[in-house]
Amino acid sequence: MRLETFRYTERFGSVIMRDVQKVLELDSGWNEEDELHETFAARRVEERKIKAIEEKMAIIIPTRDEKLRLFDGVVSGVPHECTKIVISNSERRQFDRFAMERETLKQYCQFTKNQAYILHQKDPHIGEALQAAGYTDILDENGIVCDGKAEGMILGIFLAKLFGKKYIGFIDADNYFPATVLEYIRAYAAALSMARMPFAMVRILWHYKPKILGEGLYFKKWGRVSQITNKCMNSLISSNTGFETDVIKTGNAGEHAMSLNLAEVIPYASGFAIEPQELVSIFEHYGGVHAVSAGEKASSGIEIFQIETRNPHLHEEKGEEHLNEMVLDGLGSIFHSPLCGKETERLILDQLRHRNILSDDETPPALKLLSPPSTANFEKFREIVENHLESYSLP
Ligand code: GDD
Ligand code: MG
Repeated sequence: MRLETFRYTERFGSVIMRDVQKVLELDSGWNEEDELHETFAARRVEERKIKAIEEKMAIIIPTRDEKLRLFDGVVSGVPHECTKIVISNSERRQFDRFAMERETLKQYCQFTKNQAYILHQKDPHIGEALQAAGYTDILDENGIVCDGKAEGMILGIFLAKLFGKKYIGFIDADNYFPATVLEYIRAYAAALSMARMPFAMVRILWHYKPKILGEGLYFKKWGRVSQITNKCMNSLISSNTGFETDVIKTGNAGEHAMSLNLAEVIPYASGFAIEPQELVSIFEHYGGVHAVSAGEKASSGIEIFQIETRNPHLHEEKGEEHLNEMVLDGLGSIFHSPLCGKETERLILDQLRHRNILSDDETPPALKLLSPPSTANFEKFREIVENHLESYSLP
């Protein structure tokens, strides 16, 4: 794969944010002697480096009642070397959609000689294992994992650790194009292989998101949610560093990957606030504004990559209300941060009121914050889950 080299970098304490790098070539050949390996403008990541990272990466697919055909397509786009982990919160009562997902994945594994794992978020053994590990933030009063994409993702982090993975990537289950999934994961691996810091994250920026407009297609560059979140996130950084910036272009990126050592130590937020909260948490803990407390291991440096991929992003449209909720959650993560100053607060309230998401006397509700997975007693989690691993494992 060939990518643009990064030209612009922003620093915030021990956090390094790289400006967007475009994918220039999806497949840059296998010749190791390529003299264009690194030029001023472009950087080639060899196939073996991509594969070496993919082998150490778990791909988490959170899913809730998505069309089986989409789910099947998404799975087919995940490179063979990655460990595939599906965390489902799909219906099991009226129709057992989870059983259908399991069957689809099983067939895929049989035909392709893949190994994969699938489990339901509400599996009582998982709740029991988290309880035993003392990680109760995502459990309800009955000791079962709560609804929510974030809750499923955190479970994915625990499983990636269980399987000894070094990297973790997230891929939504409602993507229409399997080849887009493949490109996202190759971009994860390419960026992670470029990391110079011990803790790294890569967030995907879509090239275009096609929308039907009148009788044709319109290739939209910026989604409404991401525009607002990015603006407020950049305001948060600018007001703390004293230098205006527009470096963040992936505030909401659902498609993202991390080194597992980073995924383990950052605090998260429930539901759809998770992606913006990841950045806010990183800035809060490693931005250097507040003293880094002892034990915060990632203080040696975090590198954040933003990669613009080539394929258009087409996924299920889930309606206006869902989008408004996502804006509110995302901006809530910024609003409630101790780093958020008056100016950013005002910007957030203006955005939310202007779009009639909040009335003039309302402020974004506080988010439910979730402790870093590293606070759990992992060995207790392992003990219980290992007893049930066979039932999660396919084919
Ligand atoms: N396990 C699990 N549990 N998965 C869930 C749950 C849940 O409770 N709720 C939703 N999901 C799954 C969906 O099935 C889908 O695969 C994925 O999480 C994303 O949910 P969508 O409902 O499709 O979200 P979106 O497309 O509006 O937003 C996505 O993109 C945003 C911007 O990039 C999400 O990835 C957002 O988190 C992201 O901010
Ligand atoms: Mg979606």
